[in-house]
Amino acid sequence: MVRELSQEAVIIGAGVIGLAIARELHRRGLTRITILDSGKAGREASFAAAGMLAVQAETDETGEFFDLCRAARDVYPDFAADIQAETGIDIELDRAGTIYLAFNDSDIRELSHRYEWQRRAGLQVERLSARETCKLEPFVSPDVRESLLFPDDWQVENRRLLAALERSAARNGLVVEENRRVDRLIVKNGRAIGVETPVGKIYSQRVVLAAGAWTSLIGVEGIEIPTVRPVRGQILAFQTAKRLFSHVVYSPRGYIVPRADGRILAGATVEEVGYANEMTPAGIDFVATNAFEISPALSGLPIAERCSGLRPRTTDGLPLIGTFPQVENLFIATAHYRNGILLAPLTAQLTAEMIVGNGVPELLKGFGPNRF
Ligand code: GLY
Repeated sequence: MVRELSQEAVIIGAGVIGLAIARELHRRGLTRITILDSGKAGREASFAAAGMLAVQAETDETGEFFDLCRAARDVYPDFAADIQAETGIDIELDRAGTIYLAFNDSDIRELSHRYEWQRRAGLQVERLSARETCKLEPFVSPDVRESLLFPDDWQVENRRLLAALERSAARNGLVVEENRRVDRLIVKNGRAIGVETPVGKIYSQRVVLAAGAWTSLIGVEGIEIPTVRPVRGQILAFQTAKRLFSHVVYSPRGYIVPRADGRILAGATVEEVGYANEMTPAGIDFVATNAFEISPALSGLPIAERCSGLRPRTTDGLPLIGTFPQVENLFIATAHYRNGILLAPLTAQLTAEMIVGNGVPELLKGFGPNRF
């Protein structure tokens, strides 16, 4: 079967980034938008994520990437309110904050470094003694030596976020085609004019690559797309009847994320194993060991879920968002690596601005493909 369909935008990838871009394009007046996914919408990295908005816990210095992450965090309260008003889905933006624990001398050195650069940058960060930490979170290990509190590192329920974005797309009449692999982009006279799938071509005025870890598998003639590699993350979810923690809790080796429904997510491995997206006994053991170090109380709890996903990473670990001087009407927004949920709403807003012709926003200048 050959299908030819003329769209205003085709987005490759129906993860949180692709779906959020579709929503922003619709808000800017585009109506004929198709989002293609080689599997099930949102079922890859976006689904396996833990939803931390971990600007201060997961960046190591100030700079362009930190600025992007901080700006992304700042848009979340309005984004969460808007999408709830639009779809009726509460994405559970939880602003209780994050604590980061030290258990040994090397951890204490890491915390001191983090505390110093963040104070110098004017960020909210507090240093807590072991006693203060255990008072704040009674189920944290009594072996904790000290901790940092980041009141502005929040969390969202990433699966509710996905559900909200899918509902938004459906209500706005956008087409999400699942199990629709894109083999290659169609480029003619220096312009992207569509995509080729195993069941036909889809022509479009604009093409957006948001395929996450699968970006490098899509054929594009005439231009070099920087390599995006999959990095597997395995997580576990423990089940409690009642919420045991109020904050997200990190150590230098792992994290736990308490959800409103009593689940406690624990993560995560960071593994370069190609496209093998599966749980392994060693991965489960690694995640559980680090979670039990944070809170030995978890060790007796039932495991409600085991899950893994492939984070998309460029060789420098930074997002890939921008345009290609050699090909008009082609845009890329991918490789958000460990920060896809945090960055999705802002990436979508900035990418949509670029797509509708307002140039590359200042915040994105360091993240274009031309940096390689
Ligand atoms: N941002 C958490 C992770 O990638 O495991």
